[in-house]
Amino acid sequence: MIIFQDISKIYCIGSEKVCALSHANLHIYPGEFVSIIGPSGSGKSTMMNIMGCLDTADKGQYLLDGLSVKDCTEQELTRIRSQKIGFIFQSFNLIGNMTAEENVELPLIYQKLPAKERKERVHDALERVRLYERRSHKPGQLSGGQQQRIAIARAMASQPSLYLADEPTGNLDSATGYQIMEIFHALHNRGNTIVLITHDETVAAQADRSIRIKDGYMTEVSI
Ligand SMILES: Nc1ncnc2c1ncn2[C@@H]1O[C@H](COP(=O)(O)OP(=O)(O)OP(=O)(O)O)[C@@H](O)[C@H]1O
Ligand SMILES: [Mg+2]
Repeated sequence: MIIFQDISKIYCIGSEKVCALSHANLHIYPGEFVSIIGPSGSGKSTMMNIMGCLDTADKGQYLLDGLSVKDCTEQELTRIRSQKIGFIFQSFNLIGNMTAEENVELPLIYQKLPAKERKERVHDALERVRLYERRSHKPGQLSGGQQQRIAIARAMASQPSLYLADEPTGNLDSATGYQIMEIFHALHNRGNTIVLITHDETVAAQADRSIRIKDGYMTEVSI
């Protein structure tokens, strides 16, 4: 599903060059649950942004479901992002003045789905994260863990096959993080591919496989 062939990403700040990712080679197969672990600044988010077509590599080739991403137009990339990929971030990224159900529905409006289907998908996604009864709450009226469950429901509602999660438990205590991981396991059991970034060894160990990054280099792939 995900193939990195000798991918590098270099950021230039003035005359200084930072190699955020160096010669990364990687295969992630459909239905795998992979964690990416490494210290702060090691290149984890850079790797995920390339996987999610939010950023492009400076060198090498990225194939997503056999498609060479660098040959896609911006319009094609937008469609791929909204239909194939569910994004989950550390800071939830919910819209504060919208209710939980409005947040979950919003991407479906952008996708121009009919109202009836939107309603069904929102209901189903909120049930699956066990927050349907909180559907009229705004993010500020929910706990951090509940906000993250709403953010996951929002990703689920588009029915992607690939979930990319950047430190989804990073702002949560370990018990709440555990509930979030349960949801990822449930998504994985339904056949979805999960790529999850973490600093936390116990979270990383819950995946089928862990990829380690340090200073832009993938140092170890353990199975
Ligand atoms: N937009 C950018 N411009 C310049 N440098 C950047 C940019 N984004 C990332 N970098 C640099 O690239 C390197 C890798 O950053 P990245 O965000 O991928 O790390 P990370 O592993 O996700 O760290 P963290 O765990 O703190 O989120 C860092 O040295 C960072 O400063
Ligand atoms: Mg990061």
